[in-house]
Amino acid sequence: MNEDFEPKIVAFLCNWCAYTGADLAGTSRIQYPPNVRIIRMMCSGAVDPVYVIKPLLDGADGVLIGGCHPGDCHYQEGNYKARRRVAILKNILHQMGFDEGRVWLRWISASEGQVFAETVTEMVETLKEKGPNPLRELWGT
Ligand code: FES
Repeated sequence: MNEDFEPKIVAFLCNWCAYTGADLAGTSRIQYPPNVRIIRMMCSGAVDPVYVIKPLLDGADGVLIGGCHPGDCHYQEGNYKARRRVAILKNILHQMGFDEGRVWLRWISASEGQVFAETVTEMVETLKEKGPNPLRELWGT
């Protein structure tokens, strides 16, 4: 593991749950690594697979998609759609020889600031183990 390597994570968080959870982590001053760049989405179901692939091609080391827990999506079934999409996307990435373990889907409620912080911490540690996204070298990013 390269201790100097600081993974870059792009996180797509749904407005109603995961983003609010991340906000709670901030307002509660819960410590988590600063490696994550957050993009607020209205729903995890609105995260198009292209949104996930683009940052990976641009050199992000991992992509986190955060949504409401099953049954809690504010648009009824958006998170189920996200779950199906991510499963298919991971399968395609795997088929292409890309480590699909760089893409995470997690359910984080608005009250789970601690869970958000733990998720980011765990993802940073996992990505440190994996090392830089191999596409980084390819594209010089
Ligand atoms: Fe949060 Fe749909 S509104 S996953």
